[in-house]
Amino acid sequence: MSAVEAATSLLDIEGVSKGFPGVQALADVQLELRHGEVLALVGENGAGKSTLMKLLAGIYTPDAGIFRLNGEELVIEGPRHAQELGISIIHQEFNLMSDLTVAQNIFIGRERRTGGIFLDERALNRRAQDLFDRLGLALDPSEPVERLTVARQQMVEIAKALSFDAKVLIMDEPTAALNDTEVDVLFELIRRFRTPETGVIYISHRMEELARISDRITVLRDGRYVGTRITAETEPREIISLMVGREIVGEQRPASAAASGEPVLSVRGLTTRNLLRDVGFDVRAGEILGFAGLMGAGRTEVARAIVGADRIESGEILVHGRAVNISNPAEAARHGIGYLSEDRKQLGVLLERSVRENIVLASLRDYVSGLGFVNGSRIEATGREYVEKLRIKTPSTAQLVKNLSGGNQQKVVIAKWLAKDCEVLIFDEPTRGIDVGAKEEIYTLLRQLADQGKAIIMISSELPEVLRLADRIAVMAEGRLTAMLDNAEATQENLMDYATRFSSEGTIAR
Ligand SMILES: Nc1ncnc2c1ncn2[C@@H]1O[C@H](COP(=O)(O)OP(=O)(O)OP(=O)(O)O)[C@@H](O)[C@H]1O
Ligand SMILES: [Mg+2]
Repeated sequence: MSAVEAATSLLDIEGVSKGFPGVQALADVQLELRHGEVLALVGENGAGKSTLMKLLAGIYTPDAGIFRLNGEELVIEGPRHAQELGISIIHQEFNLMSDLTVAQNIFIGRERRTGGIFLDERALNRRAQDLFDRLGLALDPSEPVERLTVARQQMVEIAKALSFDAKVLIMDEPTAALNDTEVDVLFELIRRFRTPETGVIYISHRMEELARISDRITVLRDGRYVGTRITAETEPREIISLMVGREIVGEQRPASAAASGEPVLSVRGLTTRNLLRDVGFDVRAGEILGFAGLMGAGRTEVARAIVGADRIESGEILVHGRAVNISNPAEAARHGIGYLSEDRKQLGVLLERSVRENIVLASLRDYVSGLGFVNGSRIEATGREYVEKLRIKTPSTAQLVKNLSGGNQQKVVIAKWLAKDCEVLIFDEPTRGIDVGAKEEIYTLLRQLADQGKAIIMISSELPEVLRLADRIAVMAEGRLTAMLDNAEATQENLMDYATRFSSEGTIAR
């Protein structure tokens, strides 16, 4: 390292501002990334993290501010220029082309083509394979991206970012869709990427990750720089209060078996061709039933089978004790069953529509009069009610959802299902990508809904969240139910135990 490099930082940002119509996304923000460090960038949903990173990646141009790379001031002219400068970004939303192969996605735009076809498929695959070998990734270059799991798509994104010989690697919530082992793989990649010449900016809402991977933590709040702390010397509490500007008091765990209501939804002997084997349980009015388990255990499949998104091989779904036939999610909604899917981008929101339209989307009929008029002022009222309740950060309910930050888009999907008056609500990973403060608000809302007599199923990969919220907890492993526990009996340890155990008896007592 030269004397200049030793004295200066890898990346230095000063006085950066960026506004959008109706929103000052960033105001006079600073950030310093040192050589060889992993700098975590945190803040509430809508704080400006992704916007700042998009300025660095040349996707947006700043209204004001100075960027220095190794002490040298520069103007980032566009995405291609950013890459040439050695700034590589892994976006919060994936940017892969699903009908192309893994290798094509990695080298897209960098290959000479004839007639829209990649020149030499074999050479391309070989180059991709070299890259994977170097990174220690087990990916098949010729596989179409659409066949990959979300986690493996993430690996392709990472491989792509690293293929640019990056000096500054930006990761915008890279772990939102990863399980624990996959997170380990990612962290290993980050450690190997880190040299005295490189640095990583790491955005995440998972506090426990910051301690594992970051050297320092920079906090943004409402588009402003709040401060930077050395991770090893800082308590998570302090970071959280810097983020939200107030104390967050986590509530107690619910008293066990609080709900003694009637079963609203019953599932009997649910079996699907691929995964589920004889799954059975009841959800009662007034309770939150948590679903814990490892990824691939079949929790999402249970939800999808209930709402008719996947075919059932055998088994019964009963609503208030009466068997129902549900062949698609719209029909499920007519039976009073709402499903918030884990796959938000595909099924959750209409990006080109406004916040309020999205919120009333699932219950639009309620806003149309007998004569077919849409009641615009009621739509606005409902929109505003949920924007306030969930603290959705938006200049107005008329804002297009695509202009919201990732976490705020997620809140819109949740609002959509809260606004629809369903008796049974199934939430699949509802707080993924949601900041710590907003999580508490969502927990409170779910509890209020249960108290109003709704039956709620909550699938979550975060055990503390399940323990914090669920009255009872169903644990799944390999397509079967391996335990049904009252909250009081459940601990992280025994949940993990049941999640990794294969049930010998099949169905467990309900
Ligand atoms: N293209 C855009 N048009 C209008 N407003 C935008 C646009 N991009 C971002 N914003 C607004 O700028 C603010 C900051 O958004 P940003 O995406 O940077 O937040 P974030 O910190 O990444 O949040 P999250 O944790 O939810 O991902 C938000 O209020 C957002 O709605
Ligand atoms: Mg973001």
